[in-house]
Amino acid sequence: MSIEFRFFIFRSRSPCSLSLLLLFLAWFPSRSESSCRRGCDLALGSYYVTAEASNLTYVAGLFNLNPNDVLPYNALSSKDSLVAGTRLKIGFPCDCISGDYLARRFSYTTQIGDTYDIIASDRYANLTTTEWVAAVNSYPSTRIPEGVSVNVTINCSCGDASVSREYGLFETYPLRPGETLDSVAAEFNFSSQKSLLDEYNPGKDFSAGTGIVYIPARDQYGSYRPIPKSKNGLSSGGIAGICVGVVFLLLIGLVFLYFGVCKKSKAKKSLLPSTSDQNVASDKNISASTDGTITPFTGFTMEKSVEFSLEELSKATNDFSMANKIGEGGFGAVYYAELRGEKVAIKKMEMQSSREFFAELKVLTRVHHLNLVRLIGYCTEGSLFLVYEFIENGNLSQHLRGSGRDPLTWSSRVQIALDSARGLEYIHEHTVPVYIHRDIKSANILIDNNLHAKVADFGLSKLAEVGGASMHTRLVGTFGYMPPEYAQLGEVSAKVDVYAFGVVLYELISAKEAIVKSSSVTESIGLVSLFEDSLSQPDAREKLKKLVDPRLGDNYPIDSVLKMAQLAMACTQENPQLRPSMRSIVVALMTMSSSTDDWDLGALHANQSLLNLMSGR
Ligand SMILES: Nc1ncnc2c1ncn2[C@@H]1O[C@H](COP(=O)(O)OP(=O)(O)OP(=O)(O)O)[C@@H](O)[C@H]1O
Ligand SMILES: *[C@@H]1O[C@H](CO)[C@@H](O)[C@H](O)[C@H]1NC(C)=O
Ligand SMILES: *[C@@H]1O[C@H](CO)[C@@H](O)[C@H](O)[C@H]1NC(C)=O
Ligand SMILES: *[C@@H]1O[C@H](CO)[C@@H](O)[C@H](O)[C@H]1NC(C)=O
Ligand SMILES: *[C@@H]1O[C@H](CO)[C@@H](O)[C@H](O)[C@H]1NC(C)=O
Ligand SMILES: *[C@@H]1O[C@H](CO)[C@@H](O)[C@H](O)[C@H]1NC(C)=O
Ligand SMILES: [Mg+2]
Repeated sequence: MSIEFRFFIFRSRSPCSLSLLLLFLAWFPSRSESSCRRGCDLALGSYYVTAEASNLTYVAGLFNLNPNDVLPYNALSSKDSLVAGTRLKIGFPCDCISGDYLARRFSYTTQIGDTYDIIASDRYANLTTTEWVAAVNSYPSTRIPEGVSVNVTINCSCGDASVSREYGLFETYPLRPGETLDSVAAEFNFSSQKSLLDEYNPGKDFSAGTGIVYIPARDQYGSYRPIPKSKNGLSSGGIAGICVGVVFLLLIGLVFLYFGVCKKSKAKKSLLPSTSDQNVASDKNISASTDGTITPFTGFTMEKSVEFSLEELSKATNDFSMANKIGEGGFGAVYYAELRGEKVAIKKMEMQSSREFFAELKVLTRVHHLNLVRLIGYCTEGSLFLVYEFIENGNLSQHLRGSGRDPLTWSSRVQIALDSARGLEYIHEHTVPVYIHRDIKSANILIDNNLHAKVADFGLSKLAEVGGASMHTRLVGTFGYMPPEYAQLGEVSAKVDVYAFGVVLYELISAKEAIVKSSSVTESIGLVSLFEDSLSQPDAREKLKKLVDPRLGDNYPIDSVLKMAQLAMACTQENPQLRPSMRSIVVALMTMSSSTDDWDLGALHANQSLLNLMSGR
């Protein structure tokens, strides 16, 4: 498989070499001076049960889990009452936070009288310390409001290859008064290897009766987990060798890029002055596959972003009349208009403009890709107005669930998935700076007349951040599409979009909403758990058939549907690091798309290894 470098330089005045330098600088500091390079899927915390905290729902809630998530690691006689004085094992992923240390962030809702001291020693049973909780929260320690959510960090360990490769799963274990190295070793069956415990806990006093130690632990199946070979299986010499190799390749890559891309783009610019941006940004594969749907915006110059006057926008929308309104979302209302002979969608937002805001807008108007809804210009009189190209055929949510439209065929669903994946891959990997969308959902995937998809509203989250105060109250994102690390801890990475994209894939299969309301009034279940329940059954294929959009009838290749469901499941894994990148998703969907076109199902089986590779297994 050839890896092609595609990227697009926004600021026409900044020369290519400067961008390359920035790319270079951005790459290197992140590689050095880090104390951890990655976390691991699982670590355990040892929770000492007291009389006050003696039910599972409460304890699981502390770790943002359901009681059922705690059961596999513990032999419990009753779910309702826990025996004070025993210890519970709590399983959670162990993250490498800021490349600095291994820990997991939890969010805790405060109760009356909570102090950081009480939170650390009583609520979290000394799994963390007062100082360590205070360090990640902005409330003064004397005055923590009641009922707010605070951050609680619990340190964890993924093992140490220089001590032993046999142990990769560790329990964070707060010592209790009276405990000693002997008693702990006996409890964990390590009496014959006490020196190992010392090696994992350098400088710790095992007889102090306080403090946190790390102990190799067994997983829910009773086995020790070794450190995975593929990930940490390198000697330090090997790492040095690879670093030298990577630096070398990078340098070659950069030189290649400079001569390949930059020179070419300069050449194109001089040849095609008026539409150069469009050409640089669009990708040959895409142009070919979408049969020339590029419609250069002839009414406006491509070189600079267009600023409109409020007067012009008012006139084009009949004073923002109800008749012109096409919809309303979290950021504001959207109006249809014809401006200078082109069809546009105008989004009116309650937001103040600031200096950064203008800079951001300038960048956004320069991002062009066939699978991204183009921002043509803006107006900042009164409110903020964003002017987008109009996409004729509604959004994906309307196609899946609205009435009065023909049901999408399976191959058009695969095409829509592929188009949106390409749009997302572009902003994740090929723009400078890179963007995270943060609000991927079926309403933000627009469909054109040829049933190709374009991702809408990209860059809005960043605009909202630099925008006016009223925007800060809105957590950017939509329920049902937000992964746990974002909804609970606000951790943002490209994998937030990957998760949401996975939910969209489930929607394409089932035409159900991201959150499915069930028959009883209060109950509702996320699409992610609905599919996971079915896919984990031994007869997944049969269970899956029950979830497929009834409007497809029997007109779908079940193998392709299963592939897409597996892809969606990989995207919606709880651990963000295990989710595939948009790049690998595009590759997977491309193979799916080529085999769906002629319904050549045999080809799909050949690509099993690709899927495995992608999902990190
Ligand atoms: N460029 C466009 N062309 C055609 N229709 C559009 C365009 N942009 C938005 N729409 C339509 O306008 C409606 C409202 O869009 P808007 O983005 O305000 O809300 P949303 O996508 O539902 O939520 P969010 O604010 O989270 O993006 C949507 O139904 C969308 O299909
Ligand atoms: C569980 O324990 C918490 C804290 O002690 C308490 O507030 C809650 O009412 C208990 N719930 C049940 C169902 O016993
Ligand atoms: C936490 O540590 C303090 C001080 O050592 C101790 O008094 C308290 O009982 C411990 N809490 C738990 C739940 O073990
Ligand atoms: C967790 O690890 C960090 C970084 O190594 C350290 O500063 C902190 O004291 C640790 N916290 C606890 C509770 O052990
Ligand atoms: C919790 O941590 C997040 C991310 O570091 C931070 O934005 C937030 O303000 C913290 N919460 C409090 C209450 O300080
Ligand atoms: C220690 O060994 C005993 C007996 O072999 C076993 O029952 C127990 O589960 C083991 N404990 C741990 C923590 O592995
Ligand atoms: Mg939208």
